[in-house]
Amino acid sequence: MRQIIYASSAVDEMTPEKLDIISQQAKRNNSINNLTGILIYGDQMFFQVLEGPPEKITEMKDLIWSDERHNGISEFKDSLIHERSFPDWSMGCYRLKTTVTNDSQWPIVDLNSITDHLPPTTTPDVRVLVETFFQIISPRNLRHEKQSG
Ligand SMILES: Cc1cc2nc3c(=O)[nH]c(=O)nc-3n(C[C@H](O)[C@H](O)[C@H](O)COP(=O)(O)O)c2cc1C
Repeated sequence: MRQIIYASSAVDEMTPEKLDIISQQAKRNNSINNLTGILIYGDQMFFQVLEGPPEKITEMKDLIWSDERHNGISEFKDSLIHERSFPDWSMGCYRLKTTVTNDSQWPIVDLNSITDHLPPTTTPDVRVLVETFFQIISPRNLRHEKQSG
């Protein structure tokens, strides 16, 4: 099993409709290809963990890397793993509270609740990266709220 983790910048402001198209494509193709993971959107940035058979990751990485809806991809991890962090999610999609209006299929989460949404299988390294990404995209006042309470 292989796992990649990256963040990227959305080229345009993502409307709920645009987000739903991405999640539908991801869920459909990933279930066919035995790929799983999580995709988070906030502050015009994406964060994704994608895991599965090494050769399927190679194919999907090529597709995603050349997708013109985002750019500026920073890869945090590409390595072999023993266990999936998201075995039951063909692609779990979340977006940060306050980023887009309320009519997308992506559940809204905030900095304090993202941890509660991660499955128990999430490995510590993945958990840290998800939480760090949320820290970065959260408005300063929300970050402060977390620290003080
Ligand atoms: C941030 C981001 C994440 C994506 N993640 C996936 C994914 O996990 N699986 C997937 O099949 N497509 C994903 N896509 C879409 C692919 O780049 C590509 O457009 C899609 O696989 C094409 O599917 P289709 O030929 O079925 O329309 C993602 C796109 C973006 C912008």
